[in-house]
Amino acid sequence: MRSSRHRIVLLPGDGTGPEVVAQARRALDALSENGSAPWNLEEYPGGATYYREHGKEWEPEAEAAAHAADAVLLGAVGWPGVNLPSGDIAGAALVLGLRRDLDLYANVRPCRLYPGVLHRISGEFKQVWSPDKVDMVMVRENTEGLYTPARGVLRRGGTTEVAVDTRLITKVGSERVIRYAFEIARRRARGAPEDGARRVTCVDKSNVLEGCRFFRATFDRIGQSEYPEIPRDYAYVDAFTQWVVRNPEHYNVVVSTNMMGDIITDLASVLQGGMGFAAGGNIGKDHAMFEPVHGSAPKYAGKNQVNPFATFFAVEMMLRHVGDKHTDARMIRAADRLEQALAALLASGTARTYDQGGQLSTSEVGDRVVAALTGEKR
Ligand code: IPM
Ligand code: MN
Repeated sequence: MRSSRHRIVLLPGDGTGPEVVAQARRALDALSENGSAPWNLEEYPGGATYYREHGKEWEPEAEAAAHAADAVLLGAVGWPGVNLPSGDIAGAALVLGLRRDLDLYANVRPCRLYPGVLHRISGEFKQVWSPDKVDMVMVRENTEGLYTPARGVLRRGGTTEVAVDTRLITKVGSERVIRYAFEIARRRARGAPEDGARRVTCVDKSNVLEGCRFFRATFDRIGQSEYPEIPRDYAYVDAFTQWVVRNPEHYNVVVSTNMMGDIITDLASVLQGGMGFAAGGNIGKDHAMFEPVHGSAPKYAGKNQVNPFATFFAVEMMLRHVGDKHTDARMIRAADRLEQALAALLASGTARTYDQGGQLSTSEVGDRVVAALTGEKR
């Protein structure tokens, strides 16, 4: 156990990012025991709006701090019409850049429906799936695949004629993310809601794509040799999109390649109540970054309206990750306290933002979380 403080770097970013990170900060302050937290918070600006004003996505000190941190909490980046000369979104350095530069190879996105959370379907708020049937962890490869910067366009006579993105699937990239998924299955408290099985499902398109055949073969090799007790399961990505909606209870841990993982995790967020609840952890050997999955949501920026729960769950993941890594019981206790407060608030139905059919603002939900954390009896 380490007695020094963990270094946590906050990157609020663009749009609604700063609004939700401000609430995360309040929750972290409320979690500090007797006024002394086992962490130090540092905050740095950056992203698309920063780029527009300063001609760079962030300052070198911000980047250095992110590289030196025990964990990074990212709000969101991106703003319509603000792009880098390459065409990439301005702010990409903070998300895609850090994923690659810190080698955050596993993007871990839990999909769990908490009691009290509603599904918004065609403008109506109701519970479509039941909480005891939605409890899986999706693991997305985070450093290669279609996101590999091996792309380009062919311009001839001033006209773009061809565009190409190369999808790279490597042995080491596949092995480590697949191993990470099996490790989660081994350590998780629960298996699939359907039958308690600790199955890992490999989602790919191996009936067509060579890279996916390689990914699936790697999945079988690692599973068979290192995790023989864990049932292996398979889905082609197209079929998976209907199965996960119809029978979410079948899934426990799901592993996929980068772009497919990007798509299926947004889809699955509907099962957990929407993007307002979807949190993710970008995990590497030496670094980790946590974020709400929803993005900067320009339409809602500055309105104090968006649902901060995704960010609170990202904070919970962050505390738990750092606590596990450094065997620091204070961090695990903070994660447990936060999760209990969030679950109780959700169950009470008293902390609903617009996306849940409620009236509360972002900061009012923050007020409830702070009150729950400071008012609890310990
Ligand atoms: C996500 C986002 C990012 C991605 C964007 C913002 C670059 O959609 O984290 O899922 O495509 O990975
Ligand atoms: Mn995405």
